[in-house]
Amino acid sequence: MERVGVLVVSYGSREAAMVDAFIRSNKYKVELYIADRQRNPFNLRRAEEHVVIPDLNINTIYRFAEKHRDKIDFGIVGPEKPIIEGIRDLIENNLGIPMICPTKEYALERSKVLQRILFQEVVPEVNPRFKVFYPKDYSSIEDVKRDLYKWLDELNNEVAVKPDAPAAGKGVGVWGDHFNTREELLEHFLANFKVGPVIVEEKIEGEESSFQAFCDGKHIVPLPETRDYKRAFDGDRGPNTGGMGTYKSRGYILPFMRPEDWEEEKRIIERIFEKLKGGGSNPNLRGMPFYEAFIHTGRGPMILENNSRPGDPEIIPILALLKDDFVDICFRMIEGSLTRIDIEDKAAVVVYKVPPTYGDYIKFFPEMVKRDEVGTPVILEEAENLSKKYGDNIRIYPGSMELREDGRCYALSSRAVAVLGISEDIQGAREIAMEGIKAIKGGALWHRNDIASRDHIERSIKHMEDLRRGIRWQFT
Ligand code: GLY
Repeated sequence: MERVGVLVVSYGSREAAMVDAFIRSNKYKVELYIADRQRNPFNLRRAEEHVVIPDLNINTIYRFAEKHRDKIDFGIVGPEKPIIEGIRDLIENNLGIPMICPTKEYALERSKVLQRILFQEVVPEVNPRFKVFYPKDYSSIEDVKRDLYKWLDELNNEVAVKPDAPAAGKGVGVWGDHFNTREELLEHFLANFKVGPVIVEEKIEGEESSFQAFCDGKHIVPLPETRDYKRAFDGDRGPNTGGMGTYKSRGYILPFMRPEDWEEEKRIIERIFEKLKGGGSNPNLRGMPFYEAFIHTGRGPMILENNSRPGDPEIIPILALLKDDFVDICFRMIEGSLTRIDIEDKAAVVVYKVPPTYGDYIKFFPEMVKRDEVGTPVILEEAENLSKKYGDNIRIYPGSMELREDGRCYALSSRAVAVLGISEDIQGAREIAMEGIKAIKGGALWHRNDIASRDHIERSIKHMEDLRRGIRWQFT
């Protein structure tokens, strides 16, 4: 088998799933050089060389790549921070190692304002109404408050408040979800306004979906749509998180979408791609420049935000269902010849297990936390052994978790471990994922119980049917 060396810049479970996809290659012997945020037990076992870089500093990642440059054929990056800081530019320009992620210029998530301005130019019909408040334009809080309240009058208070700079989902506040009075909204606004521009945009009622695509600079290849579970608690309540789970249906669309919604999403992304590509091809876009959050309304999808990285956990089910060799997909992205990808026509569900401090669970539900388990080792073996029952239809991907000197795994502060279930339908996949989740013991970890549940999906379907008939829901 041909040997291939791959640099993986890893944050959590999403990259463990990438590592798994590489290792499963039956065409190449893949040697992995992993720059990781922690001593991830899954990655450690599979890496040729593994280094821990807790802040994923790009100069430290660069030095690791430089040390192994003769053995690395290409690199791939999961998390957004190194992409925004220019990891691709640094490594490609100085070491000549092709990187799979956009260059710094195309990391559009560095500024939500620039994104909105781009969408307004290219796809205004799907861009919510928005106004940007720049600190440089105001000399007093009273001035900005006056303009803000005027804008709130126009939008009837139904707004989302978003800081310009990335805040890992935590900076976004939504009327009715995160605040119910103008005073609360103002407090949230000012906390963000202290550090930079703030967008106040129309709140859109609908159901969210995640669009992802691989891109070689000439073509974009859309991947099946997934649903993210952004809020911490069951029933889509509580603080925003990085995502507590996801599901994908068979086929390319989600149960609450219509085929024309999918066609419209692809049209929107094509328009943005054409604009950024500027005709011909633009290899700087290589990677996943379009991981888009859409919100489906009665009038079709509208655009919420763009990221230049794969979704976590949304890419996990896709990677597990690739029929094509992941190494070949990467080579084709580098060559500019990626025109299609074959994906198994199965359903998949991912559920995350997280520590008590995550999503402020311990504050909201102190009585639910298993106090005697806090800080104890997390036992994965029983869940891993479920592969005897389910084969490749169950995967356990540790994320924010480290292997310590005592040979045991301990959860860190973020999403600790993802369990993926695969089946012919969503409910079958959910059952497998939940069995895996329940088999993981220790660390006082908790999870959402309604990821991909029948009730949750039926509610989304009903919500969309009502919205298409012009009926809005009152959320409490
Ligand atoms: N699941 C949300 C994200 O990756 O940003």
